[in-house]
Amino acid sequence: MSSTKITNIDAVELQEGIQNAAFHEDDDDTSNASSSREQQATSVSVTRPEENEYTQIKPYAGMPKEVLMLYSRKACYRVPREIIFWLIIACTLALIAMTITIVALSPRCMSWWQLSPVYQVYPRSFKDSNADGVGDLKGIKEKLSHFEYLNIKAVWISPFYKSPMRDFGYDVEDFRQIDPIFGTMEDFDELLASMHDKGLKLIMDYIPNHTSDKHIWFQLSRNGTEPYKDYYIWVNCTRDKPPNNWVSVFGNSTWEYDEVRQQCYFHQFLKEQPDLNYRNPRVIEEMTDIIHFWLKKGVDGFRMDAVKHMLEATHLRNEPQVDPDQDPSTVDTEFELFHDYTYTQQGLHEILTNWRIDLDAYSREPGRYRFMVIECYDYEEIDKTMRYYGTSYVTESDFPFNFYLLYLPDDLSGNQAKSLVHLWMSNMPKGKWPNWVVGNHDKPRIGSSAGTEYIRAINMLLLTLPGTPTTYYGEEIGMVNVNVSVIQDPFGQHDPSNSRDPQRTPMQWDDKLNAGFSDSENGTWLDIAPDYSTVNVELQQADAHSTVSQYRALSLLRGAELALSRGWFCFVWSDVNVFAYLRELDGLNKAFLVVLNFGEDTTTDLSSVTELPDTLTVHLSTVPISQKTFTKSRIPTSRGQGMLLEYSTNQRFHLNHASECSVSEKACYLPALDILYKC
Ligand code: GLC
Repeated sequence: MSSTKITNIDAVELQEGIQNAAFHEDDDDTSNASSSREQQATSVSVTRPEENEYTQIKPYAGMPKEVLMLYSRKACYRVPREIIFWLIIACTLALIAMTITIVALSPRCMSWWQLSPVYQVYPRSFKDSNADGVGDLKGIKEKLSHFEYLNIKAVWISPFYKSPMRDFGYDVEDFRQIDPIFGTMEDFDELLASMHDKGLKLIMDYIPNHTSDKHIWFQLSRNGTEPYKDYYIWVNCTRDKPPNNWVSVFGNSTWEYDEVRQQCYFHQFLKEQPDLNYRNPRVIEEMTDIIHFWLKKGVDGFRMDAVKHMLEATHLRNEPQVDPDQDPSTVDTEFELFHDYTYTQQGLHEILTNWRIDLDAYSREPGRYRFMVIECYDYEEIDKTMRYYGTSYVTESDFPFNFYLLYLPDDLSGNQAKSLVHLWMSNMPKGKWPNWVVGNHDKPRIGSSAGTEYIRAINMLLLTLPGTPTTYYGEEIGMVNVNVSVIQDPFGQHDPSNSRDPQRTPMQWDDKLNAGFSDSENGTWLDIAPDYSTVNVELQQADAHSTVSQYRALSLLRGAELALSRGWFCFVWSDVNVFAYLRELDGLNKAFLVVLNFGEDTTTDLSSVTELPDTLTVHLSTVPISQKTFTKSRIPTSRGQGMLLEYSTNQRFHLNHASECSVSEKACYLPALDILYKC
């Protein structure tokens, strides 16, 4: 293509362009000048097609590309364009750099199960909506405001599946149905929807180890119907000779002779709770489907019941006796054998990690994390408990329940509190999240085992330790064990000293009929505690210094103060009376010292703790005190008193006392920007 040819085309097109109405309109008042420019431009373009030859002509809409290109090369268009171009590049790079920096420096966000205490509802005892004397799902829905009042976001509800209630719901007849005593599936859906509306999470109880003997699987298994024949553990035996010496958690042999199948089946709890056979892949599939069923309904997590019992050795050898000299025929309780062949068998963690994967698949939407907590009592074998956190390579549960504080009353003292807290913190795998339990439906209420004067200090301990506290219903008002008139618990019927009824009595809402728990005129399923007229929610809410008001204040504070929710935890003192620790966060000058008295009246001298300032301000005391500040060398506490002291400092204790301190979700505070960053 010759340059002459291009020039000619340019000239022709330009000529057409000159006739463009818009162009003329713009130049109405200078038509002469314009036409002379047209002539100039036309003649110039024919003879010398260079950029500056077009300076006389304004750009106009619809001009041909070639002309446009000539204009665009002019400095007055090119320079601003290039400036804008480079500015866009620079801004984009800056944005990318900023995003990378923010992502790299942001500490991990904490999930809902880390931010709130977990509150355990025992549904039979929380609130009865239909006056039959037993709590139900509608009742729980009526009382959701209680969780809001307590600043609690996570609620674990003990089982409400269809059940013959031999073990009050832990014997499940149908995992996909609600027991009529608790309501209907509609009631459940409404409860869940209302909870979600209020920003509350619902954790279900999931019972993998066993079903009820009324479950259809067991009915079909006992008469040998396929594929259910091996859904349970069946072994040949005679009516009076069990296959081995294994004993049930609830006492006596784990084997029960079944007249229908003429074999023995295995049960780690009641004989009405036959153990599922997890060596059968179909059982795993069935139980996994049930998890999916509830996840699809939208539940936010599971408390996995009694998992260490899920597998047993197939060789069926006798378990070793704790006392080898004991007459074997007298061995009939769990504590008389070493459970080498019936607890925590190989393969258990694989099943649990696979369920974790199922939960993860439903956790992808923001804010919809599905939580897993394990129930496992391993007594002195803490490493077995810690294994439920998973390994460096595989995640398992978010945490296994930490039941060690239940042993606080065994030797109530500052030293015992410290050693139990230390036990968990020093054994927990690095980077994992701690948790604390001081009561549940299986254990005596802490107020009874420790003494009522210690309830508030124990609640303060629970809510100021790092990690997730679990509160059993009623602990927030200081409910205690009740000597019930008629034992309902089957375990208690077998051994009254082990009855769990005393800790399961109805929630005390007010001082009216049945403590506001039920409108029943025929009594309630367990007796109402005699102290309900003074120990109840309504009365305590009206008193700013009550147990429930203090619980609420601490729960709110825990949510509001970074030092408490994700700061360092450091031991500073323990003796026979007092346990003291501090909570601090790098970059934040506000810190807290917690002083708890688990013994007698005393004065603690913390002057050796040089990082503490001389003066500490009382933020909350569990007993009324007039003094607003204390010097660190003289901190008096009375029997059962808990004090939360606040102070300001720029010295960090953890920097000089690494072995006394730990932190789980480490972050530093930047006061200038009021943000947290990874450090
Ligand atoms: C768990 C429950 C307990 C129940 C047992 C058998 O330990 O907490 O209440 O009796 O499992 O299901």
